[in-house]
Amino acid sequence: MSRLFEPVKLGEVKLTNRIMHSATMESMADEEGNITDRHIERYSVLASTGIGLIVPGTMHVNDVGRFGTHSASISDDRFLPGLGRLVDIIHANGSKVAFQIQHAGRQTFRKVTGQRCVAPSKGKLDPMFLARPRVMSPAEIESTIDDYAEAARRAFELGVDGLQLHGGHGFLVNQFLSPFFNRRDDEWGGSDANRFRFVREVFNRWLDLKPASSFLMIKLSVNDFTPQRGITPELAARYTAWLSEMGIDCVETTCGTGSFSNMNIWRGDLPLKEMVGALPPAKRPAGWLVMRRMVGKFDYEEGYNLEAARTIRAAVPRMKLSLVGGLRHAEYMEKVLEDGSVDMISMSRPFIRELRLVDELRKGVSQVSCVNCNKCLATTVKNEPIKCSCD
Ligand SMILES: Cc1cc2nc3c(=O)[nH]c(=O)nc-3n(C[C@H](O)[C@H](O)[C@H](O)COP(=O)(O)O)c2cc1C
Repeated sequence: MSRLFEPVKLGEVKLTNRIMHSATMESMADEEGNITDRHIERYSVLASTGIGLIVPGTMHVNDVGRFGTHSASISDDRFLPGLGRLVDIIHANGSKVAFQIQHAGRQTFRKVTGQRCVAPSKGKLDPMFLARPRVMSPAEIESTIDDYAEAARRAFELGVDGLQLHGGHGFLVNQFLSPFFNRRDDEWGGSDANRFRFVREVFNRWLDLKPASSFLMIKLSVNDFTPQRGITPELAARYTAWLSEMGIDCVETTCGTGSFSNMNIWRGDLPLKEMVGALPPAKRPAGWLVMRRMVGKFDYEEGYNLEAARTIRAAVPRMKLSLVGGLRHAEYMEKVLEDGSVDMISMSRPFIRELRLVDELRKGVSQVSCVNCNKCLATTVKNEPIKCSCD
């Protein structure tokens, strides 16, 4: 009997199996941020395989928080028709859907947002974004929380089954949570409880808006790997205990930040030629210098977030956990479900390569065919629709 294909409940929502599509920015939105036919095609195929849960690519809450020139937006009611089509097509094909709600904070570019990026604190200059953020005022923090609430209102109006707060990869929520990024000494920083305040306030607003028949989750970096101490598995466990007390249903455990520990998010090869080639010509020499130093330092390892997830499970057994990061063998997936380490298996790159992966797993294939060459990342850097470019 396969554990992967057993049902699991998030809140009151029953998922027919434990396989989840981890949020994967498709770069398929139009320049405004509207959902396009490309999204609809991709997710109708994916949903038709009977996957337990689909989290489409990240959706930004406002313009300053936008990450990609072709990422989807949930920042205004004018995006509702496209987003509604997305929810409907996934439901019509038999899967459940949760939207991932995001703000990039310091990890974006003026050419994407048309303005200077913002962050909880100024922080160190980083090698990837070279960000010199404007520090958010308390009023701006409050209005950003309003934007998260408005995004949730829109999503629930459209009938999503759940919402996922993007709390990983060095984006805004991660910047608030991390002692490395958050150097504030007001009520939004200075202690773990204060650094958690942003997440608490967003979830409090979401809990007020949430229909009983839906769930809330967070994608949480459980290891920042920043130059000085950021989020560690122990701190992530502390945050998870607070999330559990609040009634949040699930944590998807991820790691790394785009700005200081980029390849930790992915692991595997760093396709230097493709990644440097994806940059604008003027940025290629600097990009080559930064990325060359990363080659060979982030070797692929199956389930690289498992140990951190186990730390969290031991500290907060009640919280449902979804594991993401380098899951490639069916036997491994079955084992970590069977031994109770986690409750769900989440994948991203394997679905870029094989949209019908769930059909294959159901038939009994023993491993996915993604080999972590990471050439798909270069496509994302170019803001082109995701595709597998593996040889
Ligand atoms: C092209 C691409 C786009 C991604 N976009 C997102 C995103 O929008 N939100 C997010 O939380 N993670 C994003 N990720 C990270 C994945 O969800 C996942 O955490 C990571 O790839 C590790 O899982 P995997 O080994 O199954 O690929 C992206 C990954 C890739 C390769």
